[in-house]
Amino acid sequence: MSIIEKSNAEKSGKANTEKYVQLENVEMTFSTKKGDFNALKDVNLSIKQGEFISIIGHSGCGKSTVLNLIAGLLVPSSGFLFCAGREIATPGPERAVVFQNHSLLPWLTCFENVHLAVERVFGGETKAQQVARTYAALELVGLSHAVEKRPNEISGGMKQRVGIARALAMEPKVLLLDEPFGALDALTRAGLQDELMRIMQKSGATGVMVTHDVDEAVLLSDRIVMMTNGPSASIGEILTVDLPYPRKRLELAENAEYNHLRSEVLKFLYERHAKKAA
Ligand SMILES: Nc1ncnc2c1ncn2[C@@H]1O[C@H](COP(=O)(O)OP(=O)(O)OP(=O)(O)O)[C@@H](O)[C@H]1O
Ligand SMILES: [Mg+2]
Repeated sequence: MSIIEKSNAEKSGKANTEKYVQLENVEMTFSTKKGDFNALKDVNLSIKQGEFISIIGHSGCGKSTVLNLIAGLLVPSSGFLFCAGREIATPGPERAVVFQNHSLLPWLTCFENVHLAVERVFGGETKAQQVARTYAALELVGLSHAVEKRPNEISGGMKQRVGIARALAMEPKVLLLDEPFGALDALTRAGLQDELMRIMQKSGATGVMVTHDVDEAVLLSDRIVMMTNGPSASIGEILTVDLPYPRKRLELAENAEYNHLRSEVLKFLYERHAKKAA
């Protein structure tokens, strides 16, 4: 990026809490065997520090691409991404990712899977401090009893918890979650959603979660970013969820505002679906 091209975010030189994570005119074109494929175009989004955002949209519209761009796992074809006023160029421990398939190393125990991340981020600390961090993260997700187990010895929900513990152990400023509860049964999912809500409130971290689940999006989010269909997908609408915390799912089921927001998201998705079919 040339000096002339420096964006407003970088010019300000310090972290702007209103625009903590910022996407400016982001475009993503993939080179494929059949030629270039323009997945994202004109994506503009500012996320406040401590805010929790859900990204929702039809399959293949570009949700994971947006998340991977913020993670620094992808570089945009044009446009800029910033975190705390700095351009995102590579992955960094301040932006931890919880992948959909939990991606644990099968030959390591739960403890070792989390500890690997701790060693990387907190390499300057003593061994005892690192071990304490690892135990604390596993305790946070209720896995103190399973520290010595390997991934093949635990359930899908527990594996997902290890993935979340690993991300949280890094004490990220931004937690990025790609359909983190997609493969779980309803009860495990509800339990983990509640835990995540509690952890996010406590840590003050900024969250970006990709989800297909409308209830999950409304329950957890401060704002829901609804994406248009691809190719050249962009942000269609942004819905603000003005429900006070702590949010209790059973109480919300009867809440008129909750049900209104829920139907707004569904309406957006159905309209997009109809357009896709046409
Ligand atoms: N590395 C790549 N090379 C070529 N095309 C890609 C690549 N990654 C993603 N795409 C294409 O970009 C579009 C957006 O993909 P992405 O994975 O972001 O969608 P998504 O919204 O996360 O979908 P889903 O809900 O199914 O996970 C898709 O058409 C996909 O095929
Ligand atoms: Mg995806």
